[in-house]
Amino acid sequence: MVCPKTAERTIVRSMEEVPLFATEDEERQWWATHDLAPELWEDVTEEQGALLDRLAVETGAQKALRRIRNSFVLIEKSQGAFSPMNQYDEKYNQETYYWGIKPSPICFEVLKMIPPERTIRLIDIGCGEGRNTVFFARNGYVVTAFDLSLKGVEKTKRLAEKVAVDVNVFQADINEYRLSEEFDILFSTGVLHYVPPTLRAEIFENYKQYTTSQGLNVFSVFVKKPFIARAPDGETTAQKWISGELFTHYHDWRIEYCTEEIFDCMSSGAPHQHAVNRVIARKVV
Ligand SMILES: C[S@@+](CC[C@H](N)C(=O)[O-])C[C@H]1O[C@@H](n2cnc3c(N)ncnc32)[C@H](O)[C@@H]1O
Repeated sequence: MVCPKTAERTIVRSMEEVPLFATEDEERQWWATHDLAPELWEDVTEEQGALLDRLAVETGAQKALRRIRNSFVLIEKSQGAFSPMNQYDEKYNQETYYWGIKPSPICFEVLKMIPPERTIRLIDIGCGEGRNTVFFARNGYVVTAFDLSLKGVEKTKRLAEKVAVDVNVFQADINEYRLSEEFDILFSTGVLHYVPPTLRAEIFENYKQYTTSQGLNVFSVFVKKPFIARAPDGETTAQKWISGELFTHYHDWRIEYCTEEIFDCMSSGAPHQHAVNRVIARKVV
């Protein structure tokens, strides 16, 4: 596999030398001058190695790998963009469903707005273990879905098989994958904070272009609020959106629904809060 390092960079010989970063900027700056020693790449799994090799060939980008909570994060330094790799694999590597199998409440709004009375094509972007993907398929939508986590893709397929519905599920990185065919509904919950701000305009342009006339984009994003502290288990790979930013992408569509909610969370055992923006926007052309 490819193991990038250059003479002028500092070689990290132990994972203990990797500091805890307070901010993403701090983390990026540090990785701009450091590389992992080759021996630290030994515990990269075959699957992770293959992904690194593919990305190295495709992008030629310099990359470093570091361990975060027993998982790996691939850092694309040349673009300053973060791409989490397999951090969800561990969560998904069990029989039970980490996010449960009940659909997100917003799925029912979709059902009301565009019921599957004819063939409705829907894509679930970052489908996780498939709770929403399979809900839509069970209700008669023609569903495509993808996620970065192979474990998530496998569990989505298993859930679909269990209830005997067809879904087209595959592994892809939201930051690389672009639509090339139209969907009536583009759907995504809890994923778009993995898209760095520099890619958002281009990705949303692609999503809007490949939405059918009268089709819907149904998205939720985590947003920053100055009065909400960073979650104790906040991911360094995620980049929260600016409050309201999501809605600006739909200034030229009809916004059927938009909201900001602040909710309490107990993940990691410590009470904290999150803010989320949700939008259902319709293409009126
Ligand atoms: C909070 S979970 C939400 C899963 C699902 N949408 C749901 O609501 O159950 C976030 C998901 O985003 C996926 N993810 C993270 N980075 C991604 C990327 N770059 N491309 C595609 N999916 C990604 C993760 O694997 C994980 O399944």
